[in-house]
Amino acid sequence: MEDKSKDIIVCRCEEVTMGEVREWIAKGYDTFDELKRLLRVGMGPCQGRGCREIIMREIARGTGRPMASVDPGTFRPPVKPVKLGVLAKGGDN
Ligand code: FES
Repeated sequence: MEDKSKDIIVCRCEEVTMGEVREWIAKGYDTFDELKRLLRVGMGPCQGRGCREIIMREIARGTGRPMASVDPGTFRPPVKPVKLGVLAKGGDN
């Protein structure tokens, strides 16, 4: 029976499938930052908010490590969308 989960898009921003993520994890690229460099996961407009946890879970599953030991990788701003009006006003927000 064919594994259809490999066709599931895990990073919507960069259109990366579960199959691609699993393929690279199996090759030994088992950190989020390595997968980011190879597949661009986490580099889309959401900066990984939509895919980081799914991919970290897959790394944990694929390597047999506990989820807590999987490094979430490097975050770069903006990690959260900011309205231009907030920036224009200045201040702490
Ligand atoms: S879903 Fe992966 S960067 Fe947005």
